Amino acid sequence: MTDTSQTPLVQLKDISISFGGIRAVDHVSLDLYPGEVVGLLGHNGAGKSTLIKILSGAYQKDGGEIWIEGKEANIQSPRDARDYNIETIYQTLALADNLDAASNLFLGRELTTAAGFVDDAKMESETAKIMARLNPNFRKLKEPVSALSGGQRQSVAIAKAVYFKAKILIMDEPTAALGVHETKMVADLIQELKKQGLGIFLISHDTREMLELCDRVSVMKNGKMIGTERVEDVTEDDILSMIIMGKKPDQAA
Ligand SMILES: Nc1ncnc2c1ncn2[C@@H]1O[C@H](COP(=O)(O)OP(=O)(O)OP(=O)(O)O)[C@@H](O)[C@H]1O
Ligand SMILES: [Mg+2]
Repeated sequence: MTDTSQTPLVQLKDISISFGGIRAVDHVSLDLYPGEVVGLLGHNGAGKSTLIKILSGAYQKDGGEIWIEGKEANIQSPRDARDYNIETIYQTLALADNLDAASNLFLGRELTTAAGFVDDAKMESETAKIMARLNPNFRKLKEPVSALSGGQRQSVAIAKAVYFKAKILIMDEPTAALGVHETKMVADLIQELKKQGLGIFLISHDTREMLELCDRVSVMKNGKMIGTERVEDVTEDDILSMIIMGKKPDQAA
């Protein structure tokens, strides 16, 4: 449930960005509360990934403001985003195939001993601990992640975000390449993260899945925000007509 009495984790205010002559994101506003999943829906090229890439520091906005936990934030790079506890999981996961789960989890943020050496034992035990919590069936701790299923790879990526205390998680089509069972696993992980108070922006083309996983869904079209609805207030048809016609249900003829 969206608890609007809390300070929003994220407020995207009037965000715009153009590429050449194309307004990929056109004065879009959207917020995200702790423990909430907000879904972004819309046709190919609607501007969903571009909007979240502005939050993740991959793109620089031309206009608008980003506020994090009630203060204006300056996000110029993925590193800045990380400093605000924003983690992003893309469909094409940035995992190193030849490394095992622990090496991936700590890639670029290796734990070291007091003497300054890389602490493999600690990284392995920490990885085992967090995987046991998030995905108790996960056994392939020592294998290169190339040997993992899509769902298992997602769980390593999610574990990484959780371990490094993400407060804001961006998931751009995390289940697009997954089978039914693996999609369920990611859905269960999302529920677990919600309980821990994370806020999640989720992008998917599966309207039904979005209505199940999200607290609110936003529809974008041609770079514009068509509307944001609480899932209990709309039907799948309402959302589909927003995607196709670019109109809110109460504006439908
Ligand atoms: N780096 C870029 N350079 C030029 N144009 C871009 C760039 N990134 C995105 N665009 C354009 O911005 C628009 C929005 O693209 P975006 O990737 O945000 O769409 P999307 O809603 O995520 O679509 P999809 O569902 O296909 O992933 C498109 O017209 C796209 O071609
Ligand atoms: Mg996209």
